[in-house]
Amino acid sequence: MIRIAILASGSGSNTENIVKYFAKSAEIEVSAIISNKADAYVLERAQYLHVPSYVFGKTEFLETNKVQLLLDELKIDWIILAGFLVLLPVSIVDKYEGRIVNIHPSLLPKYGGKGMYGDRVHKAVVEAHEKESGITIHKIDANYDRGTTVFQAKIKLKPTDTAEKVAQKVHALEYKFFPVVIENLILNRPFEKEVTVEPIDNEQSVRVERKDR
Ligand code: GAR
Repeated sequence: MIRIAILASGSGSNTENIVKYFAKSAEIEVSAIISNKADAYVLERAQYLHVPSYVFGKTEFLETNKVQLLLDELKIDWIILAGFLVLLPVSIVDKYEGRIVNIHPSLLPKYGGKGMYGDRVHKAVVEAHEKESGITIHKIDANYDRGTTVFQAKIKLKPTDTAEKVAQKVHALEYKFFPVVIENLILNRPFEKEVTVEPIDNEQSVRVERKDR
């Protein structure tokens, strides 16, 4: 079994989606959810999803080896960043080189970098009158939102789309593609690196849960 740890700082809707996707997998298991925020909703999700969860403050992440020790103890093979807002220490990035995957809610390199996360990204996209947005899944290096892009999904925007609407469209892409891309990457399966998705009226309906296993 390949063991993954999901790191998340906020609500954790992607985390929940990933946990559910792999719940019956014979190959991949979400073995831990780690947060830097004691009050993050992702920790409540961890409880009801029955995944062990851990909290480390920013200083513990950056200035101690506690997180590294936990990852060693749990025999974690891959690290997934799902809305995780702390830059990982170089020691972890080095040790897990090629095995740390992040999702960003824009078409990087646009709207990435320090301070660009969540709704701030969607507001900037709307203010710039972009005609499309999307998601970028990439392997990380020691900088925010950089590293090798492994997948992008694009979706068209309407001139009337608000930041909230863009967020909804982008979240739908995240739910649809992030677990599948994680699976393909880990199992070294070939997959499309770039897709364009036609908007549909109720984007939430594209949320996928694996029902075939
Ligand atoms: C997601 O949209 C993710 O792409 C974004 O945070 C959100 C977390 O949502 N990540 C970044 O902005 C990273 N720079 P969630 O907590 O509901 O999964």
